[in-house]
Amino acid sequence: MSEINKRDQLIKQWIKETAEMIEDAKEESLKVEEKSARNDLVTNMDKQIEEALTNKIRSNFPEDRICGEEGFGDNLEDLNGTVWFIDPIDGTLNFVLQQENFAVMIAVYEEGKGVQGYIYDVTSKKLYHGIKGQGVFCNDKPLSAPENKGLSEGLMATNSQLMTQDAFSEYRVIAGKSMGVRMLGSAGLEVIELIKGNVIAYVATKLSPWDIAPGKIMLEEFGYKISNFSGEPVNLLKTNQTIFSTARAFDEIVTNK
Ligand code: IPD
Ligand code: CA
Ligand code: CA
Repeated sequence: MSEINKRDQLIKQWIKETAEMIEDAKEESLKVEEKSARNDLVTNMDKQIEEALTNKIRSNFPEDRICGEEGFGDNLEDLNGTVWFIDPIDGTLNFVLQQENFAVMIAVYEEGKGVQGYIYDVTSKKLYHGIKGQGVFCNDKPLSAPENKGLSEGLMATNSQLMTQDAFSEYRVIAGKSMGVRMLGSAGLEVIELIKGNVIAYVATKLSPWDIAPGKIMLEEFGYKISNFSGEPVNLLKTNQTIFSTARAFDEIVTNK
């Protein structure tokens, strides 16, 4: 079995186990802590999931390195070799305040290039995954790439910082040229909206490597463009202001801002 297939089988099994952990924890009260700000939260579940996934990766792939949000991974200064990205709960604010609309995300990169990405929408029990050169799937069914629509033909997704801070007002003007704005509070769920063709772009401030890594693989497989706000490639060793977009809307967003 190829390394990609071995990882694919294990990741799908681990995501199933993670979903069971979240389901079992529903009856227990969550322990919620603030990180950098009152709206930057972490729960005992974020930590437990990342620790469990990290342990599984380390015991099956001891040579590989891990970039995780909650600190159980390694401190990476480069992307050499095989690197795993983990976001144990993407949309923690939704998890705490809504108990829905959050995702579990895993990606694997080799020598800095995306190989396989996974986003599990916990509420709808749908696992989206993509393998470079093999396509994008929902619960293992192959999906087709959505139409390459322009900005004026579709909806644009964004995040709350971009909508509430004056520093990003030019993006409000751009958003005004779309059919309308949508905002889910989970980078992973926004990527799923792009995969489904429900939005034509997702423009977000301050996304971390684990927010970007799985979606980048799936969206590039479908011909979408991903860059920072200057139109340059994203850097998976730091936070990026990020544009994920259809090829047509991308030119309108980056060139005309
Ligand atoms: C956050 C969500 C949110 C995005 C933030 C992310 P987290 O992830 O994806 O939609 O706007 O930038 O940090 O902290 O809930 O994993
Ligand atoms: Ca996240
Ligand atoms: Ca998270």
